[in-house]
Amino acid sequence: MRLIMLGAPGAGKGTQAKILSKKLSVPHISTGDIFRANIKNETELGILAKTYIDAGKLVPDETTIGIVKNRLLESDCASGFILDGFPRTLAQAMSLDETLANMGMELTGVVNIEVDDEKIIKRMQGRRVCPNCGASYHQTNNPSKNGTNCDHCSTELIIRDDDKPETVISRLETYHKQTEPLIKYYNNKKLLVAVDGWQEVESITNEILSALGV
Ligand code: AP5
Repeated sequence: MRLIMLGAPGAGKGTQAKILSKKLSVPHISTGDIFRANIKNETELGILAKTYIDAGKLVPDETTIGIVKNRLLESDCASGFILDGFPRTLAQAMSLDETLANMGMELTGVVNIEVDDEKIIKRMQGRRVCPNCGASYHQTNNPSKNGTNCDHCSTELIIRDDDKPETVISRLETYHKQTEPLIKYYNNKKLLVAVDGWQEVESITNEILSALGV
């Protein structure tokens, strides 16, 4: 299964990608997670990415495309993958088509998780993440059993730097301008599966699996 998770920031791409990755036994590749790991380790890539991420903008295509190309060449992707947060521009989508064609692979589907901007802004206020292991929670929808600490590693949970309300608004603007055109791109290729992202997490997963015929 070779899937792309599309959707606005906070639509629930990461939440669903993690679940699907386990259920389908394929790796979950999140460009956001790759950038955050590099920011944490203060690498050259992390320092560059942070300037864009904190402003709610996209990291330049030439950087992002190379990272994903290399990741897809790793052996665990031979059986499939779930791309979360990539592609985000038409240039990224076209380059992915080329990479997959060179590898003799085709996409199985593109899942678009639909949630209105106002609901996203509200939802993002409650997100808490673990700065150590990257686990993601929601204060009311998916709270940690460990209070303000991570269930997996007990680290104190934080608010992501780019979840500040003003940055969320910039991220949504960037999404509508640069990423939303991909809905049409994949719809034209008959790959798009649209799901309502304003439901229980489990209902969304079931809807995706049934739309994919799994
Ligand atoms: P990235 O990490 O990909 O951020 P994003 O797309 O903005 O997505 P989020 O992680 O914010 O949200 P999500 O849709 O995964 O939702 P989640 O499941 O966490 O990227 C960060 C930045 O990196 C970008 O802004 C950009 O600068 C850069 N970047 C990344 N990829 C790039 C690329 N390809 N090109 C250029 N730049 C790139 O859920 C959100 C919250 O809601 C959580 O608290 C969760 O618990 C809760 N929740 C989820 N589902 C439900 C539900 N059904 N009901 C109730 N609550 C729910």
